[in-house]
Amino acid sequence: MTTTDRPTASGDHSYAGYDEDDDPKVKLHYGIDPHDPWPDDVPRGQDDSRWRFQDNPRLARRAELKIAFCWTLTMLSGIALAIVYCVGGQPQVEGTMLFVGFVGLGVGLILWARDLLPGTEVTASRGTHNISDAAKREAAVEAFNRTVDPIARRPFLLRMLGLVGGVFGVAALFPIASLGDRPHRTLYKTAWGPGVRLVDQDNNPLKPADIAVNGILTVFPENNIESPQSSTVLINLGDAPFDVRPGTVGWNIGGLVAFSKICTHAGCPVGLYNAQTHQLVCPCHQSTFDVLKGCNPVFGPASRSLPQLPLAVNNAGYLISSEGYQQPVGPGFWNRA
Ligand code: FES
Repeated sequence: MTTTDRPTASGDHSYAGYDEDDDPKVKLHYGIDPHDPWPDDVPRGQDDSRWRFQDNPRLARRAELKIAFCWTLTMLSGIALAIVYCVGGQPQVEGTMLFVGFVGLGVGLILWARDLLPGTEVTASRGTHNISDAAKREAAVEAFNRTVDPIARRPFLLRMLGLVGGVFGVAALFPIASLGDRPHRTLYKTAWGPGVRLVDQDNNPLKPADIAVNGILTVFPENNIESPQSSTVLINLGDAPFDVRPGTVGWNIGGLVAFSKICTHAGCPVGLYNAQTHQLVCPCHQSTFDVLKGCNPVFGPASRSLPQLPLAVNNAGYLISSEGYQQPVGPGFWNRA
């Protein structure tokens, strides 16, 4: 038999050309014999309003106090977390406070659900995916209201939950403060600038002859070897022909060029140099930068060139930067703000 039409929204399957027995969806989809009636979405008349201590106000009050105790623990752990964080932080203590706070919150919610909310489980079949009739919709609204009422009749617990959420929520924000400076305030800047000498990791100033052909050296601004975003690679390309991109004329000293060492993908140090191909490789995700093409990325996830540092030589013959970096160093993320 050929199905010529689809079931209607009202659930009426009795149109011409349709036989429910032949409809594979009816059998496969719902797991109910096609000839059985669909169960009501919400069983009517069922007593689902009872909760554990409904008939014993004394035990209900005790349950409330137990919940309040749990949430007080949560609140205190949030305050303790704030204090520990503000006096310098201690990861183990902070972790313990978070653990106590979340456990208290969770146990309190479980006790509330177990002792002070209706405990009847109502399992409703999905039935057909058609729109329910008016009577079923009314029953659903009535059932919903029955479950809201037991929550609303506990104003003490509701207020306490709000308080705990506020205190503990504020404490949980502290990790955000630990993320450090906002990118656009400080990470745009490095310690490089006009006339800053290039030094090695021992803060010794460098001259052009200190770098052998095909050699590479990590250099820093003088007296700033601890500045992570300023770390730079100095490479001697010798006679290898390299592109001088627009705006970078005069930024090299013969074959000496300098580029930021911070990968533009996710910020790892780009320290692997292949002198045969003149490529820099980032060890984290293998982004590869072609030094002859202005450290343009030629492989891997990095989408932006390594920024170039303009070089010069001062009167004493030492290598200096003639300016700072003209682009933000580090991940391309900074570009998109
Ligand atoms: S951080 Fe360099 S490739 Fe991912």
